[in-house]
Amino acid sequence: MRAVVYRRYGGPEVLEVVDLDEPKMAQDSVLVRIKAAGLNPADIKLRQGVMEQAMDAWFPVIPGWDLAGVVEAVGPAVGEFAVGDEVIGYVRQPILRYGTYAEKIATPSCTLVHKPRRATWTEAAGLPLAALTAYQAVVHALDVADGETLLVHGGAGGVGSLAVQIAQAQGARVIATGAEINHDYLRSLGAEATAYGDGLVERVRSLAPGGVHAVLDTAGRGSLATTASLARPEVRVASIVDPTSYPGTIAVYARLDLEDLTAVVRLVDDAKVTVRVGATFPLDEAADAQRFLETGEARGKVILDIGS
Ligand SMILES: NC(=O)c1ccc[n+]([C@@H]2O[C@H](COP(=O)([O-])OP(=O)(O)OC[C@H]3O[C@@H](n4cnc5c(N)ncnc54)[C@H](OP(=O)(O)O)[C@@H]3O)[C@@H](O)[C@H]2O)c1
Repeated sequence: MRAVVYRRYGGPEVLEVVDLDEPKMAQDSVLVRIKAAGLNPADIKLRQGVMEQAMDAWFPVIPGWDLAGVVEAVGPAVGEFAVGDEVIGYVRQPILRYGTYAEKIATPSCTLVHKPRRATWTEAAGLPLAALTAYQAVVHALDVADGETLLVHGGAGGVGSLAVQIAQAQGARVIATGAEINHDYLRSLGAEATAYGDGLVERVRSLAPGGVHAVLDTAGRGSLATTASLARPEVRVASIVDPTSYPGTIAVYARLDLEDLTAVVRLVDDAKVTVRVGATFPLDEAADAQRFLETGEARGKVILDIGS
């Protein structure tokens, strides 16, 4: 099978396309033919080696944690999937080795759920990590409730855009910050869009004079500094990027939870959540895909289309 690997940390140039043997199947494994693989900012940080303290790598590393694909074989201990099933998965392993920038992967069945029927392959591949993060932030960490107002910093990003939609599905009103170019998109999701920076407190105050109930930071860059001035005194605050920047902030670190992922799949099938794909690249151009993600200019998820 073809796969993308890196043999040392570095820039996008360390990524190379190679031919590898078929993945080996453990008893609880599912062999997935990958149709599309989603890129995440973590792929870049891991490739650069800046997360070396937190995760070991076993070179050569196939990057990527998000996939959408078709079950090609199941191990003898697997009962919940059959050949031909369409799945998505979050296949992060404790040591970096076998990822999703490949034509196939053998992964434990507990990393997969059935693909949403309403999503294309490329849209579905953009879900797993972003969906887990957004759902766990909005529903578990912030417990956003019907009638509340949530402020999402970075509402147009992969995680932010899902958080905006999940919060609205919970019955909340959402105000979202984002670059001007993303405001129409934010409004199309049902959020009230506003710019970062000078005057933010006044703009949010005019939209929510009583203050917001909860704040989610997906953007970093000091976004939470304004919180005390635009939120209610009992505000709940969560961050996926910089939890130390405001006192009492809940740090959210995404973890694999199939109930959470299934809940988001259901929201997609109920037409309450959509994924915006900003760009697709073939497997051979994975280095260009990562370069593009690094520019910060992607308007939506960057996805490897591996024969969808
Ligand atoms: N804690 C966790 O478990 C967890 C999980 C997933 C992601 N994360 C982290 O959360 C952050 C957001 O992740 P994501 O997947 O939502 O990222 P993303 O899809 O790349 O979105 C990030 C958003 O930030 C804004 N941005 C502005 N300048 C940027 C630049 N130079 N580079 C990149 N983005 C820029 C963009 O929106 P605007 O232009 O509108 O501002 C963009 O849509 C990342 O730092 C990621 O590593 C943490």
